[in-house]
Amino acid sequence: MASRLMALWDWFDSRMPSVAEEWRKHAAEYYAPKNFNFWYYFGSLALLVLVIQIVSGIFLTMHYKPDASLAFGSVEYIMRDVPGGWALRYIHSTGGSAFFLVAYLHMFRAMLYGSHKEPRELVWIFGVLIYLTLMGEAFFGYLLPWGQMSYWGAQVIVNLFATIPLVGPDLALWIRGDYVVSDATLNRFFALHVIAFPLVLLGLVVAHLLALHDVGSNNPDGVEIKKHKDPKTGHPLDGIPFHPYYTVKDIVGAVVFLAAFAVVMFFVPEMGGYFLEANNFVPADALKTPAHIQPVWYFTPYYSILRAVPPLFNSQFPGVLAMGVATLILLFLPWLDRSPVKSIRYRGPYYKSALAIFVISFLILGYLGTEPTTVWGQFGFDAFFLDTREIATWVARAFTVLYFLFFILMPWYTARDTAKPVPERVTS
Ligand code: HEM
Repeated sequence: MASRLMALWDWFDSRMPSVAEEWRKHAAEYYAPKNFNFWYYFGSLALLVLVIQIVSGIFLTMHYKPDASLAFGSVEYIMRDVPGGWALRYIHSTGGSAFFLVAYLHMFRAMLYGSHKEPRELVWIFGVLIYLTLMGEAFFGYLLPWGQMSYWGAQVIVNLFATIPLVGPDLALWIRGDYVVSDATLNRFFALHVIAFPLVLLGLVVAHLLALHDVGSNNPDGVEIKKHKDPKTGHPLDGIPFHPYYTVKDIVGAVVFLAAFAVVMFFVPEMGGYFLEANNFVPADALKTPAHIQPVWYFTPYYSILRAVPPLFNSQFPGVLAMGVATLILLFLPWLDRSPVKSIRYRGPYYKSALAIFVISFLILGYLGTEPTTVWGQFGFDAFFLDTREIATWVARAFTVLYFLFFILMPWYTARDTAKPVPERVTS
């Protein structure tokens, strides 16, 4: 049997040697730093979630109907009548949140170890483009179940585009294909969700990995392993072949991740309303606006920024602009960071504190974005009267300012920070 397989492989290899060549280039002879740690699991996990989403999405599409009068019912049909349909749907909905969780941890790792810095600027830029595409993909997908939150969430977000001066109203109309979110909107969001954005996402992931493999991976010490090569073999002294060392390590990460994933999808698929909201189990009703419209947790930091910025001349545009800038500013990180060292291990107190404040701000903004804008308590008396909504708005404003200061002041504090000496070789 083994010799037959070998013969088959030889037959294939002699006709298409590029497969083995690529395997060698990107796995068996790709030398990765030997000191990867916990934070380096999330790239391969993001790939795993991408595959999970594509496969579960294909099967969901076999039973789903992208028609405003049938969509909600077809999702109920998947949940109740399609064999294993409930599992497919929960895999896909859990996968959506897992994707963002993994992507956020993956991005945080880059900021910890300075992986966005020279020579990996393109790796970072492709990463940010992946993140933006992922946001679009999640937004389009969320309309498909045609529940109350799908409908009103899309209504609110598309209306944000209408606030853009001059072109806004026409742009919103063009996106919707109608004056309100309707069947036309559902049809185009379906097309974008199942084919256009996944294709772009796949292309960007390939570009992300090719850019990474051209320059080589960074590591927790932030030292370039290509500087010290074995004179005989030409391989980096601090590198080990990706396969089998990191394929095995990544499989361990994948098993632990899949176990946690299974616990969520089997026991708490709604995650207390964070992964699937109660209001979305109610069919979309264009005549009944829900009391509280909120996006899924992974968008809430930006939603908080949107709400924190006060309107100007009755227009929400400043908030929309702030929200857009809050995501796009990530693209400039490689040039804003002027530190001579990459890894947090050798950076000074300024960057360490700034990164900590940034993460805390992002989390608090995320939390505030999930909170309704209703009043649940009042303090003070007469002239000093404050309600909790007002306090929450001011807290959101303060953390929005801190969010932006992290980036705006970065050239200043990273250039002035005290750096520790960086070792020539990796330390562990
Ligand atoms: C579909 C989403 C993504 C996939 C599948 C993906 C995949 C990967 C993989 C497999 C690696 C190499 C292994 C590792 O370093 O963990 C990597 C590295 C990297 N990724 Fe991503 N990534 C994604 C999203 C992002 C995003 C959103 C960003 C940043 C905005 C980003 C920034 C980086 C950087 C800077 C590196 C180099 C890390 C280093 O060498 O230290 N990635 N990515």
